[in-house]
Amino acid sequence: MSETGIRVAVVGGGSSYTPELVDGLLAHRDIPVERITLLDIPEGRDKQEVILDLARRMARRVGRAITIEATLDRERALAGADFVCAQYRVGGLKARVRDETIPLAHGRIGQETVGAGGFLKALRTVPVAIDLGRAVERLCPDAWILNFTNPSGLVSEAVIRHAWPRTIGLCNAPMVIERTIAERLHAPPGSLRLSMVGLNHLSIVRAIEFQGQDILEAVVEAFVAGGRWPDGPSLTPADSEFLRALGVLPNSYLRYYWLPERMLAEEQRRVHEGRGTRAEEVLHIEAELFARYRDPALAEKPPELSLRGGAFYSEVAVDVLEAIVLDRQREMVVNVLNQGAVAELPGDVSIEVSAIVDGRGAHPLPQAPLPLAFSGLVHQMKAYEELTIEAALTRDRGRALQALTLNPLVGSIEAAAAILNDAWPA
Ligand code: G6P
Repeated sequence: MSETGIRVAVVGGGSSYTPELVDGLLAHRDIPVERITLLDIPEGRDKQEVILDLARRMARRVGRAITIEATLDRERALAGADFVCAQYRVGGLKARVRDETIPLAHGRIGQETVGAGGFLKALRTVPVAIDLGRAVERLCPDAWILNFTNPSGLVSEAVIRHAWPRTIGLCNAPMVIERTIAERLHAPPGSLRLSMVGLNHLSIVRAIEFQGQDILEAVVEAFVAGGRWPDGPSLTPADSEFLRALGVLPNSYLRYYWLPERMLAEEQRRVHEGRGTRAEEVLHIEAELFARYRDPALAEKPPELSLRGGAFYSEVAVDVLEAIVLDRQREMVVNVLNQGAVAELPGDVSIEVSAIVDGRGAHPLPQAPLPLAFSGLVHQMKAYEELTIEAALTRDRGRALQALTLNPLVGSIEAAAAILNDAWPA
């Protein structure tokens, strides 16, 4: 960190999410931010310019004297950075459309982070993420990478193990879960202590402390009584029975593993009705967002941004950044190497877990054994993630076929091979 403050590089600066991150950095006045540098590739230049102008207006409005700049030159963006926020999408939204439509054409879920969609995204992203990690090592060897790039747990593990250990994988989902529970209880933000464990987009809340008591059981009951999976379908009597027996609160993405027929049918229905996949919907939302961002009168994060799934992601980033910069011990859910926290998993694989973040990084909290009904899935998905990283690094089609077959949302050699045949050239 320089004498005058910290320098943040945002990789994927032209992302429609960037105003959210800028908003978070501006709002936390105790973090001495000196410079924010947006970095994108030439295809992202126009979007990045729009974001740059908006970010500068936002800083002026709140009276913060932070240098905000944009570049297409990675060396320039990374030189002297203290934090590198990785929030890029390799191949842009066009690639996301493919990630979502190719699996669907073969009767499989096409979600961009889990299943075959997440796999295709991982194959494209891991080499880029490792290359970025190596550039960080060369150009700003004191920097932390805060990785939001999906699939966040898998990508973060690849970077930590193969390029840059000072990397912390982040996701907004744990924060969304915490906020949702706090809202229902009318509890002030920060008053709940959630204990979470699992993998990214595949985690459970196994304890919720509120005013000195563990209220998990009551929260699970209220969730079941609410009758609906978050972002998902209504609960059937069997779903409710299953969730009560499980006795923990699931990350909403577990719906893909536990309700695969319904989730697939929902995706197929959307396409059939002409609404397209989520990527196509996001393309429309983005066009509207950028029209708003271009308005010179706009000087704050517009409410339309909340139509995107990444709500609160800036708060997660800023909380981690603050805990590191100010060396404040803070309990947060992050993606880091296991290091013995979950005894039944190897030490050098990433998990998503409650951890203490301080000036030296993120330290996972020791965990009781995973519930049996959950641990099988964690083991299978971790094996899938390891094979996927290997496939991405070696470009070995056989490894890719193994990985995709192992993913429970694909689960057959025929489907995996058919998806690979369509996707491999891209
Ligand atoms: C959630 C997930 C993120 C994901 C986002 C997608 O926030 O936790 O990992 O990137 O949703 O939102 P989108 O608006 O792009 O569909």
